[in-house]
Amino acid sequence: MKEVMKPSMRTYKRHVLVCVGSKCTENGEGQILYDALKDKLKKAGLGSGELRVERSRVNCLGTCKSGPLLCVHPDGVWYYGIDSDKLDIIIEQHLKAGKPVTEWVYHQGPNCEG
Ligand code: FES
Repeated sequence: MKEVMKPSMRTYKRHVLVCVGSKCTENGEGQILYDALKDKLKKAGLGSGELRVERSRVNCLGTCKSGPLLCVHPDGVWYYGIDSDKLDIIIEQHLKAGKPVTEWVYHQGPNCEG
């Protein structure tokens, strides 16, 4: 029987899922945002430490409209229409300070306190 290695994951405070699918954006804006997120998190001090943010790209979040779309877990906060400037604000207010930016939220899950 083939041995399966257990994957590992560093501790994180929040996980940001960025949709890079083609149904919620027309010109790859989700992928551009995802690519920018790595450096933005690092510059904000969220690449390591207590508030470390994990990021993942997904092909669809199931709400295919008005992207780029982001989902922040475990808070269960879903953002729409996010560009680079808005992402900077989300990083400061939500990912660092814990306060979702309600102006761009289109859905809140059961864990959201914002
Ligand atoms: S393609 Fe982005 S939510 Fe479906």
